[in-house]
Amino acid sequence: MNSKIAAIIARKGHTPVSELTAYDYPTARLVDEAGVDMILVGDSLGMVMLGYPDTTHVTLAHMLHHVEAVARAAQHAVVIADMPIHTYDTPEQALATAHALMAVGADAVKLEGGAAMEAQIRAITQAGIPVQGHIGLLPQKVREDGGYRMRGKTDEEAAALMRDMEAVVRAGAFSVVIECTKHSVAKAITEACPIITIGIGAGRGTCDGEVAVFHDLVGGYPWFTPSFARPKANIAGEITRAVKEYIAEVRQPE
Ligand code: KIV
Repeated sequence: MNSKIAAIIARKGHTPVSELTAYDYPTARLVDEAGVDMILVGDSLGMVMLGYPDTTHVTLAHMLHHVEAVARAAQHAVVIADMPIHTYDTPEQALATAHALMAVGADAVKLEGGAAMEAQIRAITQAGIPVQGHIGLLPQKVREDGGYRMRGKTDEEAAALMRDMEAVVRAGAFSVVIECTKHSVAKAITEACPIITIGIGAGRGTCDGEVAVFHDLVGGYPWFTPSFARPKANIAGEITRAVKEYIAEVRQPE
């Protein structure tokens, strides 16, 4: 077991874990030097880096390119590589994809799905590769699963989410993302869960840690901000201001 991941696992019930996406060398180096615990090279890069409408256009080639850059930058944080859609349809394919992502420097991989992905997660963890699960709203399935709505609002959905968490745990994952889930349900899952839960859009303090998309945190993608985002900066505004100042200087040299 990677010692950085062992240290994260030991945080259950103690200090909350911070996770943030990054997709390129300078951003990863900045968030690593700022002290974030885990860097997720999320397939959200399809939207915020590549301009696709959702994550279903992301390929393994995209991920390998970005994971390699992030891994070069990260000295302290655990680097988690997202597995893109249709690269883990079978346990064999899942293991091959996980090996490819580890070969370019990831410390762990993440894939979406609970009970339906138990065999895939087990194939990867049994090969000694750490896995972060992902339950609740699954962006790769958002079209067939009824859009970007909060999960766990009915008793049936809440029970299914609990079963998803149990499957991810049985399969040997070291942590699990709980996305866009009713806050009381995320809290109940966390209390019942022996591994680290990481919330996004699942309420403050309901999970063992939180993950955010970097661009949502710094105001770097002004064309869409999720309702649960808590921006701490306006980088897009700063870029626009600097570029306008530069254009004005070029047009009117001293
Ligand atoms: O791709 C991503 O950024 C993610 C987070 C939203 C958890 O999966």
